[in-house]
Amino acid sequence: MSRTDGDSWDLATSVGATATSVAASRAAASRGPDPLLDDPYAEMLVTAVGVDHFTALARGEIDVVDGGRQYMAVRTRFFDKALTDAAAAGVRQIVILAAGLDTRAYRLDWPAGTTVFELDQPQVIEFKTRVLSDAGVTPSAHRVAVGVDLRDDWPQTLRRNGFDPGRPSAWIAEGLLIYLPPDAQDRLLDNIGALSAPGSVLATEHMDPGAMTADWAKEFSERSRRHGGTIDLSELFYAGERTPAGDHLARAGWQITVLSNADAYAAQGFTPPTDELLSMLGDSGYLTARREEP
Ligand SMILES: C[S@@+](CC[C@H](N)C(=O)[O-])C[C@H]1O[C@@H](n2cnc3c(N)ncnc32)[C@H](O)[C@@H]1O
Repeated sequence: MSRTDGDSWDLATSVGATATSVAASRAAASRGPDPLLDDPYAEMLVTAVGVDHFTALARGEIDVVDGGRQYMAVRTRFFDKALTDAAAAGVRQIVILAAGLDTRAYRLDWPAGTTVFELDQPQVIEFKTRVLSDAGVTPSAHRVAVGVDLRDDWPQTLRRNGFDPGRPSAWIAEGLLIYLPPDAQDRLLDNIGALSAPGSVLATEHMDPGAMTADWAKEFSERSRRHGGTIDLSELFYAGERTPAGDHLARAGWQITVLSNADAYAAQGFTPPTDELLSMLGDSGYLTARREEP
C-alpha cells in the first residue's frame, strides 16, 4: 500500500503506526534502572493502540533495535529543549505539528498562560485526548487539540482555535516532513512563516538529501522486520527530490542553525552511532529557525 493524496489513518495503520512506533521507543527509553527519558504516558498510550509488537516494545518485553533508545533520547531532548527554551524566553504559544503520541503538553512544566496547540490527523489526536483523559491525566498547559490534514489549509483551523499570529510562537515538526510530498512540505513551511510573528522559532529535523533515500528506507525497514516490526518506511516516505527545509526557510528570511547528529549526541554525553544504518543518516541532524525581532 503506498501513499495517495488525502489518505488518512489511525495509530495502528499507515503513517499513524510510525507515531506508535516512536512512542514505543520513548517508552522503552523511559524504562530500566538508567532511563534516558521520562515519558510517563508513552507506555499507556502505546498499549491502548493495541498493536502487539509495539506494546511489547513499550513494555520492555522485546528490545528496541540497537541504538534506538539513544536515538530517541537525543531526538526527544532536542525538541523538548527547543520548546522549553522558547517558553523561558517568554513565548506562550506552542504548536506541535504532527503531534502523534507526543506527551509534551502533559509532561513538560509550562509557564502559566501557555497554550499548547497539537495538530495531527483527527483520528490520531482524538485517540490521544481520549486515552489520557480517561486515565485522569491532565495537561500542564492550556491544551488545544486540532484535528487536521497538514497537506490542507490548516492555518485557518488553527486560527479559529485561538492561535494569534500577532504574538510569537514556537513550533516543532518532529518526524513529519519526510511523510509530506515535497510541495506540501514547502507549503507547510510557508504557512508556518505566515503565522510566525518576530521572536518565533521553529525546530525540525535537518535531512541530508543524499542520505534518506528510498534504499535507506528499505534497508531500515528490513532490519526492523527482522526484529518483528511491520512498518515499511519505503511505502510511507516521499523519497526523491525536495528543497531542504533549511534552504526554503532561509530564503523566506528565517535565521537557520543546524546541529549535526554527531554534535546532538555529544551535547547529551552520548557517543554518536557507529551503526551503519543510523550513520547512513549522513549529515542529517536538527534544525532551528528563528524569526528575529526587528
Ligand atoms: C513519525 S510520527 C511522529 C509523531 C510525533 N511527532 C513524534 O515524534 O512522536 C509522524 C506523525 O505525522 C503525522 N502526519 C503525517 N502526515 C500528516 C498529515 N498530512 N496531516 C496530519 N498529520 C500528519 C502522523 O499522523 C504521525 O502522527
